[in-house]
This record gives sequence, C-alpha cells and structure tokens, in this order.
Amino acid sequence: MTATDPTTHPSRTVLVTGSTSGIGAATARTLADQGWSLVVTGRDASRGAAVVAEIERGGGRATFVASDLAGPPDSLRVFARAAVDAAGGRLDAVVHNAALCPPVDTVSLTDDDLEATLAVNIRAPHVLTAALAPAMAARGQGAIVVIGSWMAHVGHAFVGLYSATKAAEIQLARSWAAEFGPAGVRVNTVSPGATRTPVNAGAGDIVAQMTAGTPAGRPGTPEEIAAAVAAPPPGSPLSGCPGRPRRGPCPRAGCRR
Ligand SMILES: NC(=O)c1ccc[n+]([C@@H]2O[C@H](COP(=O)([O-])OP(=O)(O)OC[C@H]3O[C@@H](n4cnc5c(N)ncnc54)[C@H](OP(=O)(O)O)[C@@H]3O)[C@@H](O)[C@H]2O)c1
Repeated sequence: MTATDPTTHPSRTVLVTGSTSGIGAATARTLADQGWSLVVTGRDASRGAAVVAEIERGGGRATFVASDLAGPPDSLRVFARAAVDAAGGRLDAVVHNAALCPPVDTVSLTDDDLEATLAVNIRAPHVLTAALAPAMAARGQGAIVVIGSWMAHVGHAFVGLYSATKAAEIQLARSWAAEFGPAGVRVNTVSPGATRTPVNAGAGDIVAQMTAGTPAGRPGTPEEIAAAVAAPPPGSPLSGCPGRPRRGPCPRAGCRR
C-alpha cells in the first residue's frame, strides 16, 4: 500500500470506497492503525459515521464523504474532488473496494442490477482512477489497490456478471500498473476468496461449502483481507500483482501475497 517507507511517510491519506461495511471497513480500520488518514465512503452515512467513530476511538484520523458510485461520471468526479478536499488537498492512495454482487443467474438478472453492477464495479473505479492517479503520478508516488475476487478466475452458475466485472477490474489494475507505474504509482490487486461479510450473511451454508476445499477449509475474515491490502513488501516497487489471499502464493518472483 505504501509508496515509499511504510512507517516514516509524514502525510499518508487514503480513500477506501465501500468502507461503510465488510472488507472496506476492515481495510479502513487496519490502515488507520498503520497511521493513514482515512476518507471513508459509501451511501450509508450512519454506517460511515460509525466506522469514523471507531477509527477515532482508536486514535486514528478519518472523515466520511458520502458517495453513490452508481452515479454518472460527472458526479463521480465531483465526489473525487470532495474526497481530495476531505483528505486535506492530497490523496496518496485509493482502494477500489465497493462492489455490487447481485445473487442471481444470468437469466434472472434485472436490467437495473445489470446497469448498477457495471457502474459501481467498472465505471466508478475507472473514473475515480482517471481523476486521482494523475496527481499521484505528478508527485512521483502513490498507490492504487483493486479488490478483485476469486470469482474472476472460475466459472460459476450464479453471479456471472459479478465475476466478469471482477475480471475487468483486475485487468484495469494491470493496465494502470503499466500506465502509472513508471511515474511511481504502484497498482496492485487483492483477490479475496469467500469472506464472511454482510453481503453473504444469509448464505452461511453456501459460503462454508465453497471454502471447504480450500487450504484453510473456512471462509476468510474481512480483517485477513485488510491485512493483505495493507502489507505489500515494504519499499518494494512491486506493481501489477494479482494477490490472492487464501488461494496460495502469488507466482511472481519476490511477491509475498
Ligand atoms: N465477501 C466476499 O466473500 C468477497 C469475496 C471476494 C471479493 N469480495 C470483494 O470485496 C469487496 C467488498 O465486499 P464486501 O463483502 O465487504 O461487501 P459489502 O459488505 O456488501 O460492502 C460493500 C460496500 O460497497 C458499498 N457500495 C455498494 N454500492 C455502492 C454505491 N452505489 N455507491 C457507493 N458505495 C457502494 C457499500 O456501502 P453503502 O451500503 O454504504 O453504499 C459497502 O460499504 C467487493 O469488491 C467484493 O467484490 C468479497
């Protein structure tokens, strides 16, 4: 996550999309514990306020800025400017975590869910990166983390659109690594396996079945995924890494994810 030294950088600010819940909230808490100043965001202001309060109780710094990432590009650019302002005029990093996962098959997917999922999972990270990465590149340092999914790498009779959007996000991260990496912006993907969060709270048996054959034999926790987001090799120029917590080590030489 860090662009330079992980312990001595004086002013580290990070936007975590979808940080009102699940993996995003855990990532916000973990990064706050490491000294990052957080911009917490989502649609739900009360859950956002709760995450901010928890971070502040722990001695960290956080601000909530509301967002609807299903909105059109202009509104996303307005949100990006508000997030930079809330961060004190500079964002050092962004974690693209917010996503929708309509729990249906292809035939059952509604047009509204189709549009919203494409917008939140692909359009929003694209527009936000276009808005935020150039300033990082101009400063010669920055970090972008995309939260992918193991579902991007398998075929499943459900959640086909979701899986396709995750594959698209992972490919965007590779392209961004090539595009912004030479200017000092590190871009990496963390692809969680099935993880217990509010999104699958009612699907206990299915989540347990899906993870029974994995090395750990159980679902992950949001905190385990957050630790992967927050802990790349210190000082490493590693970029374009398809980190897959709970699925085995990254095949890239020198990569610890
Ligand atoms: N849980 C898993 O098993 C699993 C596995 C692999 C990958 N992942 C990935 O991990 C990430 C987080 O998943 P999660 O399980 O933690 O999900 P979650 O608990 O449902 O959280 C989703 C977050 O996205 C935000 N969000 C949704 N729609 C939004 C919109 N239109 N505008 C702004 N924010 C919006 C939500 O905030 P509001 O409700 O406040 O808007 C919430 O904070 C996702 O990228 C997901 O694909 C999860």
